[in-house]
Amino acid sequence: MQKTFAMIKPDAVSAGYHHNILQELELGGFAIVSKARVQLTRARAAEFYAEHKGKHFYEKLVDFMSSGPVIALVLAKEEAITGWRTLMGPTNSVVAKEQKPDSLRGKYGTDGTYNACHGADSPASAAREIKFFFPRLILDPLPDPATAKTFIIDHLQPTLVKGLTALCKQKPSADKMEAITWLAHWLLDNNPNKPRTVDHDQLELKPEDEEEGFDLGEGGQVEKSVEEMEQDLAATRVQSHFRGYQARRNVQKKKEGPKVSIQTHEMADDEKSAVKIQALYRGHAGRKRVKGLKTG
Ligand code: CDP
Ligand code: MG
Repeated sequence: MQKTFAMIKPDAVSAGYHHNILQELELGGFAIVSKARVQLTRARAAEFYAEHKGKHFYEKLVDFMSSGPVIALVLAKEEAITGWRTLMGPTNSVVAKEQKPDSLRGKYGTDGTYNACHGADSPASAAREIKFFFPRLILDPLPDPATAKTFIIDHLQPTLVKGLTALCKQKPSADKMEAITWLAHWLLDNNPNKPRTVDHDQLELKPEDEEEGFDLGEGGQVEKSVEEMEQDLAATRVQSHFRGYQARRNVQKKKEGPKVSIQTHEMADDEKSAVKIQALYRGHAGRKRVKGLKTG
């Protein structure tokens, strides 16, 4: 798979031809990796076409390219660079209409400047143009070997070593398939990122864990009843007790020696447990209130 940079120019976008062009490129087997509708300033257009600076058509080209929105595209296909240029046809749309009437420039362009679309002409210009429009796009999804090694050591090894040790102990005579299946199940059961439920009797509440000065907020809470506000306050207290308990447990764990530490972009386990505890409390408080209403 090769990637290339393509653009639907302002003439085609303002005429509504971008729909046809997008459809034709997909029919042509190109995958759209990124797409953005962009209004280029004159300065950005001048920078994009810097290679033509000084040529007789340069100023006109820069005016044209900044006259309205363009659609910037990263396309992927085998031999995408030449494939896209063939689909576009000759640079000059007058020539294209004569020689390649079915090409995009033949159908949707007007003349030597207003020619509906753009395509990078080499791997180097494709890379430069993709970066120009999509600076955050990672073109090569494979990390460098050093990054990959660090990732494996930090994120895979600690759990894998535990799983493989358990496998050796529990299934010393397993064949290949059985061993792999067993390990796969073990990994599912021991996923360090899976939320855990903490037993209530594990909770050891201490008064110093309570967060003082809990602020109900200004304005934001006024629609709640006093009872609801009390319930919120109590729920938050329960949560903060739990956090204190977690913090002590973490300190204890650190004293016991180094443990696997895996960071995820998801909510941490402790956070999830704290939220769960709070939800449990709210449920309990809600039931108590309903009971109170029934009896009172
Ligand atoms: O776009 P392509 O790579 O096929 O051609 P180019 O030679 O890199 O020129 C860039 C753009 O400048 C063309 O697509 C035209 O829009 C414009 N141009 C022009 O206005 N007059 C010319 N004589 C040549 C190019
Ligand atoms: Mg060119």
